[in-house]
Amino acid sequence: MGFGMNARILVTLPVLTMLALAQATGQQNPNESCVTAKCHATFGKAEFVHGPVAANDCTPCHQLLPKETHKFAPLKKAVELCIQCHEPMKKQAVLHKPVAEGKCTGCHNPHQASQQYMLRGGTTAEMCFGCHNKEMVKKKSAHMPVAEGECLTCHTPHTGDKPKLLVQSGNDLCFECHANMKEDIASAKRVHKPVAEGCVKCHNPHGGDGQSLLGQDVPDQCLTCHKEMREQLAKVIIKHEALDIDKKCMNCHSPHTANLDKQLKEDPMTLCLSCHNQPMASPSGTLANMKGVFEKSKDWHGPIREKDCSGCHDVHGAANFRILRFNYPREFYTSFSQDQYELCFACHQPTLVQDASTTTLTNFRDGDRNLHYLHVNKRVKGRTCRSCHETHASQKEKHIRESVPFGQWSLPIRFEKKLDGGKCSPGCHAPKDYTNASAANKKK
Ligand code: HEC
Ligand code: HEC
Ligand code: HEC
Ligand code: HEC
Ligand code: HEC
Ligand code: HEC
Ligand code: HEC
Ligand code: HEC
Ligand code: HEC
Ligand code: HEC
Ligand code: HEC
Ligand code: HEC
Ligand code: HEC
Repeated sequence: MGFGMNARILVTLPVLTMLALAQATGQQNPNESCVTAKCHATFGKAEFVHGPVAANDCTPCHQLLPKETHKFAPLKKAVELCIQCHEPMKKQAVLHKPVAEGKCTGCHNPHQASQQYMLRGGTTAEMCFGCHNKEMVKKKSAHMPVAEGECLTCHTPHTGDKPKLLVQSGNDLCFECHANMKEDIASAKRVHKPVAEGCVKCHNPHGGDGQSLLGQDVPDQCLTCHKEMREQLAKVIIKHEALDIDKKCMNCHSPHTANLDKQLKEDPMTLCLSCHNQPMASPSGTLANMKGVFEKSKDWHGPIREKDCSGCHDVHGAANFRILRFNYPREFYTSFSQDQYELCFACHQPTLVQDASTTTLTNFRDGDRNLHYLHVNKRVKGRTCRSCHETHASQKEKHIRESVPFGQWSLPIRFEKKLDGGKCSPGCHAPKDYTNASAANKKK
């Protein structure tokens, strides 16, 4: 932008010189009556004084009516006054409305001011708030340059070629100061879609009712777009408390960039174990120290070897206990029905426990007698998978538990895997072994 002086100033200067000469020779100065100790005494005394006022020349803008009435003639439209000496503005694509309307004096005091450029108000922001609502500087989180009144670090006052009179468009504006963010975005494998679309999709550049210039606090800010997640969370019976503590959604997700899918900060297992690294008291019983479990037991269940906890847990919340995606009995004994084991059968064949005899479905069989069927598929006191298997990781093969809790007591299982079968010496019954070889070959 920038204005040059136009020809009018060249005309004015000799006049001013003439006036100075006139004063020196004691002649009547037409403006002498304007600024005296008694009249308009403050004119010319402020820190920033407009050129013509400094020269004590009121006439370019005012016409003094006869002395007796001492009245100024009505003024011309401000802009017409200004362009007498300042070159008309080069108007760009976007024009600030008061400029378009010629209201130069909405911002500039025509005479003098305590701010540079004779701006009205004590600070730039106060000047802007002469017309704009001060409420834009939100209390919960104000953007530092805005709080400091530096509106002009982002906006041009008169005209510009970017929308909203901004000095830069889109995210480039933000990157002027948040340069590290630009690098992050360039180097990350994944960029959260709204970040690429525009920082202002989430942040209010002036200030927010939520944390960190957000329109709302997390999680509400996230859930304004993630409507399916909002619906899901409204329905869950057991909500994962990780969503409500500390950084909430950001305990696991990064709002801007990530190197993993789903905006995850780390692989899920690492995230989970950053909190589940000690026993947790919970209203539904103490939760095991999972980190300890995985360190102690090196035989990890298939999905866990993939560091995927979400195969079984819905990490945000679920209808089932322990935020399990599907049904799974809580008890050690239960009368069998297949849908209780939805969880295991999401990945394993339900026929494992459906067919009384088999030579293919499982190795937990004595000849063709399916021992899974025998133990699990009962109307009364069917054993749940839990009574023999560890879910997450085990020290024994086939994820067989060391022991089964029985009241206050631990019943050892003493499972031994054998080449063609196995052997258990549990507290439940006398030691028994099974061999997979066909029944016909077996001695009775
Ligand atoms: C560049 C144009 C300009 C010059 C030069 C100028 N004025 Fe003004 N003056 C205005 C405008 C425009 C207003 C209308 C009020 C406003 O916008 O603040 C005004 C208003 C006034 C007023 C009434 C309101 C107020 O601010 O007190 C007085 C008195 C006044 N001028 C005196 C002077 C005197 C004395 C001089 C010379 C020393 C002078 N003006 C020079 C433009 C000018
Ligand atoms: C009679 C000529 C004249 C008129 C009319 C005039 N100006 Fe000025 N203006 C000047 C002179 C002379 C300066 C001082 C230039 C300098 O210091 O480089 C100046 C300086 C300014 C400055 C400060 C620029 C700077 O770089 O510090 C602003 C802002 C300004 N004028 C706005 C206005 C506005 C708004 C109007 C109309 C209301 C107006 N002027 C009317 C002569 C005029
Ligand atoms: C919305 C407030 C606002 C309005 C309206 C406005 N200005 Fe300004 N003007 C400013 C601010 C703020 C500056 C400080 C310089 C900058 O940051 O560009 C400025 C600077 C200036 C300058 C000196 C610097 C330069 O760019 O040469 C002049 C001259 C000027 N304005 C003239 C005008 C004229 C003439 C009008 C009316 C056509 C006008 N202004 C309307 C806010 C305004
Ligand atoms: C004299 C009154 C006035 C002052 C002072 C003023 N503005 Fe404005 N501004 C307006 C008006 C009127 C609009 C148009 C509002 C609308 O259309 O709703 C506007 C619009 C804007 C817009 C939106 C432009 C667009 O293209 O949509 C921005 C940004 C803006 N002003 C910034 C500022 C800043 C920054 C300041 C201080 C440097 C300031 N304004 C001072 C009157 C003013
Ligand atoms: C960090 C940069 C930045 C600062 C500092 C800043 N703004 Fe803005 N402003 C913006 C952006 C970006 C927009 C456009 C918002 C959008 O498109 O959603 C905007 C829009 C506006 C608008 C248009 C209305 C609106 O809300 O969309 C006004 C008016 C405005 N700003 C005034 C101001 C005032 C007054 C100040 C100083 C108190 C200021 N701004 C400081 C970045 C800034
Ligand atoms: C003129 C420099 C400047 C520009 C331009 C700028 N910022 Fe800032 N921003 C800062 C400063 C200074 C801080 C405070 C220091 C810090 O936290 O790094 C800050 C802090 C922030 C914060 C953290 C606030 C908090 O309370 O935690 C966010 C979010 C932010 N800026 C977003 C943006 C966005 C979005 C844009 C673009 C619309 C933007 N900034 C443009 C200077 C700027
Ligand atoms: C999807 C919404 C969203 C978008 C889009 C977004 N942010 Fe953020 N931003 C957040 C959240 C959430 C936080 C973290 C708030 C917290 O932890 O308190 C944050 C924090 C910040 C912070 C302060 C803390 C930090 O990480 O340094 C800055 C600065 C920031 N964002 C800048 C930006 C910039 C620049 C852009 C555009 C390139 C942007 N944001 C886009 C949601 C978003
Ligand atoms: C302005 C809207 C908006 C906001 C606010 C928002 N997101 Fe997103 N988010 C999106 C869009 C759009 C996608 C891309 C979806 C797609 O590609 O199908 C996305 C993708 C995601 C993904 C990856 C989903 C996938 O299927 O890969 C996660 C995780 C995510 N957002 C979490 C968050 C979190 C956490 C927050 C709050 C800090 C948040 N989002 C705020 C719009 C938003
Ligand atoms: C304990 C860690 C954790 C927390 C806390 C968390 N998420 Fe997630 N989120 C994940 C994991 C892991 C995935 C990917 C696996 C999955 O979909 O279950 C995911 C996936 C998503 C997806 C993609 C869903 C899809 O169907 O692909 C969205 C959207 C999402 N999260 C949003 C959020 C929001 C919003 C919050 C806060 C209310 C939040 N998350 C809190 C771990 C978390
Ligand atoms: C094969 C399904 C499955 C997978 C995969 C799985 N879990 Fe679980 N998880 C369960 C079941 C079932 C329970 C209920 C405990 C039980 O059996 O009584 C549970 C319980 C938990 C509990 C509560 C602890 C307690 O003492 O009950 C935590 C914490 C947990 N899992 C974390 C994880 C983590 C972390 C991962 C990924 C590393 C993971 N789970 C993977 C099925 C699974
Ligand atoms: C930010 C910490 C944090 C992270 C990360 C975290 N959790 Fe949790 N988790 C908790 C808290 C707190 C509880 C609730 C303990 C209570 O009930 O007091 C909990 C409870 C659970 C429960 C038992 C739910 C119930 O009430 O039955 C399971 C299962 C679980 N988490 C699995 C996971 C899995 C899987 C992950 C990784 C995807 C994970 N957690 C990541 C903090 C976390
Ligand atoms: C998300 C899929 C998934 C779910 C759900 C699942 N498993 Fe698995 N399971 C696997 C995979 C993968 C393997 C490894 C198969 C392999 O190594 O060939 C496996 C292996 C096993 C093994 C055999 C280990 C071995 O060494 O051969 C047992 C026992 C087992 N699962 C029990 C269960 C039980 C009990 C449940 C229900 C609580 C369950 N699984 C739920 C995927 C799953
Ligand atoms: C009474 C103890 C017991 C119960 C109850 C039990 N299992 Fe097993 N399961 C075993 C034994 C022992 C093996 C090892 C068989 C072998 O390889 O010799 C095994 C092996 C497995 C295997 C590996 C493939 C195979 O069948 O050889 C899977 C998968 C499995 N069980 C799933 C389950 C599921 C799902 C449940 C609950 C519906 C369950 N088990 C209940 C004892 C049990």
